[in-house]
Amino acid sequence: MRLKNKVSIITGGGSGIGRATAILFAEEGSKVVIADFDAEGGLETVETIKANGGEAVFIEADVSVETEAFNIARFATDQFGTINILVNNAGMRVYGLITDATEESWDAIFAVNVKGIAFCSKAVIPEMIEAGGGTIVNVSSANGIVGRGGMAQYDTTKAGVIGLTRSMAVDYAKHNIRTNAVCPGPTITGFHIKRAEARGETEADIRKRPANHTILKRQAEPQEIAYGILFLASDESSYVTGQALMVDGGYSTI
Ligand SMILES: NC(=O)c1ccc[n+]([C@@H]2O[C@H](COP(=O)([O-])OP(=O)(O)OC[C@H]3O[C@@H](n4cnc5c(N)ncnc54)[C@H](O)[C@@H]3O)[C@@H](O)[C@H]2O)c1
Repeated sequence: MRLKNKVSIITGGGSGIGRATAILFAEEGSKVVIADFDAEGGLETVETIKANGGEAVFIEADVSVETEAFNIARFATDQFGTINILVNNAGMRVYGLITDATEESWDAIFAVNVKGIAFCSKAVIPEMIEAGGGTIVNVSSANGIVGRGGMAQYDTTKAGVIGLTRSMAVDYAKHNIRTNAVCPGPTITGFHIKRAEARGETEADIRKRPANHTILKRQAEPQEIAYGILFLASDESSYVTGQALMVDGGYSTI
């Protein structure tokens, strides 16, 4: 019960890493607010948590819209009275070279992956200050620090998330708010399963991929990323702030 009586907001909690984090946090005693623009996925996570005996509520919201970020914070305090933890997990991908990118594609991915984190944090920080402190975990990516081909727009936003994390850590430390990032390596989530299915592959096909670019030679399960997020959200990491924790099977090491 590492999060007993805490109130956590998890954006993008309707699938993948966000869902696994929401389920784990509830198991650890947190009341969980799931914010997602996919109502079906978000409500499914709530049902799973409730079936396990946990407490969770859902709000449909797009984190890239500032007013909706404020709706999330207001909803959380209305439901549970305070906010102790914010996990900024919602994210989108854009594939392709920058010579193929457009002003619209750049704007769209920055709006969700960077501004979405800034908006949700802006909405939640005053409540955390009021509560005497809190923890924020931003979900970046191993590719926020490791270069690769074909995903410049996404990887740029994830590098931005690490920069934003450091600045937030410095700016709000005086209010007892710690901010850290988790950088996942390749993780089998709803996003990758749907993408494989669109190519005519199955979940089993993508599970067979060895992930030779990692030391462990395999992809992660979402729960393995969730445990890194749990550490940074909980008091166990009380002397850790402004960091980017690589949960990447050693990908960034080789
Ligand atoms: N899966 C991986 O291999 C991997 C690796 C590194 C980093 N990440 C990062 O982890 C996070 C979660 O990824 P995932 O693989 O679980 O993805 P996913 O697509 O399975 O889940 C993401 C969730 O976020 C929601 N979402 C997306 N945009 C939103 C918005 N604007 N407002 C509200 N909700 C929104 C989606 O509806 C979905 O439920 C992302 O930030 C992603 O970039 C994933």
